[in-house]
Amino acid sequence: MSGEPLIAFREVSRHYGAGDTLVRALDAVSFEIADGEFVAVMGPSGSGKSTCMNILGCLDSPTEGQYLFRGLDVADLDRDRRALLRRHYLGFVFQGFNLLKRTTAL
Ligand SMILES: Nc1ncnc2c1ncn2[C@@H]1O[C@H](COP(=O)(O)OP(=O)(O)OP(=O)(O)O)[C@@H](O)[C@H]1O
Ligand SMILES: [Mg+2]
Repeated sequence: MSGEPLIAFREVSRHYGAGDTLVRALDAVSFEIADGEFVAVMGPSGSGKSTCMNILGCLDSPTEGQYLFRGLDVADLDRDRRALLRRHYLGFVFQGFNLLKRTTAL
């Protein structure tokens, strides 16, 4: 085993808005997830779970801090490489399912 975590958040912040309307959805959050580890993120409504998942899924970027995937800073990847990371390594079920009504699974 390399010992390198699959996923690492290093002091990740995601702030929305500015000034009076600034929302600190994530404020310097750090954690690691190992390959094969099963993790549940729990917390009350508005605590930043979806914000965290959007960053993990490469759908959004931190305002500050680093998101490392297998030691690679995701911020250093261009659009195409981020798309490849999503395609090969990340599955995502949205809170609002984002399913297409006219389209079946088949
Ligand atoms: N696009 C946005 N613009 C401004 N504020 C936002 C935006 N998205 C989320 N927020 C705010 O950030 C905070 C965290 O929201 P988030 O959706 O991540 O919480 P959550 O834990 O997923 O909540 P829930 O359990 O209701 O799904 C909340 O205060 C929310 O209002
Ligand atoms: Mg949510």
